[in-house]
Amino acid sequence: MKRIYLGTNLKMYKTNRETVSYLKELREKTAAFRRPELEMFVIPSFTALPEAVAAVEGEIKIGAQNMCWEDAGEYTGEISPRMLKAIGIDLIEIGHSERRHKFGETDSDVNRKVLAALRHGFTPLVCIGETEADKAYGVTAERLREQLKLGLYGVTGEQARQLWIAYEPVWAIGVGGKPAAPEYANRAQQVIKETLAELFPGCDQEIPVLYGGSVNSQNAASLMTQPAIDGLFIGRAAWEAESFAAIIKQILELCESRW
Ligand code: PGA
Repeated sequence: MKRIYLGTNLKMYKTNRETVSYLKELREKTAAFRRPELEMFVIPSFTALPEAVAAVEGEIKIGAQNMCWEDAGEYTGEISPRMLKAIGIDLIEIGHSERRHKFGETDSDVNRKVLAALRHGFTPLVCIGETEADKAYGVTAERLREQLKLGLYGVTGEQARQLWIAYEPVWAIGVGGKPAAPEYANRAQQVIKETLAELFPGCDQEIPVLYGGSVNSQNAASLMTQPAIDGLFIGRAAWEAESFAAIIKQILELCESRW
């Protein structure tokens, strides 16, 4: 079976206690079917990270939702790579649509964070995606290529093997979002894969490209069976341990019968 990436970003919803009980339940509910091919990850709020790491005992990968590019300094309110390293985090989400659109993060901020994450040996989960307007103007492919080329500027081929990419069309994310049709998502993900092949020839095959944006138990299977989709990055539909576990089980059964 090929490697499958299934994870969730908890955004700004769960307290420490809620995060820990969610993770414990998720561990229990997935214990019977977790397997080495499954990369399962959860990205809680910063404040819950140490307790989250302790709660999963290595069985679920825990990531951070953001990170400063500097190791230390006059950056009030920021969290440095050293701090995340010290609590055993190895996955850093960078450039989520909400960071870009609500906090003004640019591709060059994303780039600084990606380079810092790689310097510290983290796996950067780099999120990209076109807006509704980009889609309407027919510039989705250009926008994705631009975000990749700027966000990954200066990354070496060797470092590129550490990257994970999430394709999350802005119009598909969150309450009011419309899930991308599987064929549309596949075409966009194909553009991403082609761009990665141009940027990192020989290493691109090792970079997983996940889809995110209104994934749920009804559309997860049809998205996951698209050839250019290596995993799913889920929001709302994964915030109850039971529903996330059910999606994971469904996808594993599907993949096992196909690959
Ligand atoms: P959603 O969130 O599944 O609730 O649309 C996806 C995301 O923001 O990554």
